[in-house]
Amino acid sequence: MVSLKDLTCSKLWLAPLAGYTDSAFRQLCKLHGAEILVSEMVSADGLIRDSKKTIQFIRFEEAERPFGIQIFGSEPDVIARGAEFCLRFKPNFIDINMGCPVKKVVRRGAGSALMNDLQRAAEIVKKVNAAVRGSCLLGVKFRSGWNAASLNYRDFGLLLQDSGADFLCLHARSQAQMFSGEADWSHIAELKKVLSIPLIGNGDIRCPEDAAKMLAATSCDSVMIGRGALGKPWIFSQIRQLWDGGDYRPVTRDLLLETIFSHIDLALRYKPERVVYKEMRSQLCFYTKGLVGSAELRQQINRAESTAEIKQLILASEAFSLL
Ligand SMILES: Cc1cc2nc3c(=O)[nH]c(=O)nc-3n(C[C@H](O)[C@H](O)[C@H](O)COP(=O)(O)O)c2cc1C
Repeated sequence: MVSLKDLTCSKLWLAPLAGYTDSAFRQLCKLHGAEILVSEMVSADGLIRDSKKTIQFIRFEEAERPFGIQIFGSEPDVIARGAEFCLRFKPNFIDINMGCPVKKVVRRGAGSALMNDLQRAAEIVKKVNAAVRGSCLLGVKFRSGWNAASLNYRDFGLLLQDSGADFLCLHARSQAQMFSGEADWSHIAELKKVLSIPLIGNGDIRCPEDAAKMLAATSCDSVMIGRGALGKPWIFSQIRQLWDGGDYRPVTRDLLLETIFSHIDLALRYKPERVVYKEMRSQLCFYTKGLVGSAELRQQINRAESTAEIKQLILASEAFSLL
């Protein structure tokens, strides 16, 4: 069994990003130094109905370990049964989502809505703890609070700790902020001071220097990177190089092209061609962001109808030759 220390002691986490962090992207990030991977969030309700569609989101490769499955829901018994169901895939940890701000989720009393229902949140952690104890570790990912007037991350974190979570992850924004505005790292620092279990810090690590800044500002145990890894999966190895006291290697044209092509090839192992060439459009927006002349390339990619065509467009593009 992976220990708590293996998961949380100065580790580089890839954040769950629904629609982006599928197995292919996670493996790519791992090749580039991500150390802990998590599934996209899946509905506990969907899992226990054994829905094929839900289950495909929690499948992972052995190479992705240490690996966690993230579940969401609002009914303690349903989430506990969902977590128990996940155990058949032998994840290293279960992560409960108490941070998702999107309407569809909070309307059902799940995600960050649980930050307004302390008793229910505590009961969820207790029941999932009882369901997975001895099989894997248990984490909870949550936000700073519902809005600026109810920033209850401190008491909420302590409640989750007392209820049986092994570690926590704080995305230092409120539900009302969704994904805009700045993450307030002082919330991470304050929570870290009062917790006795490990805390993963999350929010606004966009470049390797940010990760070092977050560690220094908050003393969090590990850092989690989400959008900062889109189009730049090498951010993890760059952070590690920086933490190890050196300069990090800048990205070259060869590395960028090799990474994009590996991404496409990995994706094709898991999804059909007609899905991959469409999904790669949004991933390629991130890979090509900021390159001179890349707007035209993106338009061409959006019209392309196969991954082979996308690769040809990239090889022929001046955007990359200017790197
Ligand atoms: C497109 C997208 C999808 C996300 N999906 C999830 C998810 O499935 N589960 C989750 O806990 N957080 C999810 N998040 C939140 C991220 O994990 C992370 O907390 C947030 O983006 C802040 O970190 P960052 O600034 O490093 O991106 C998502 C965020 C985005 C932008």
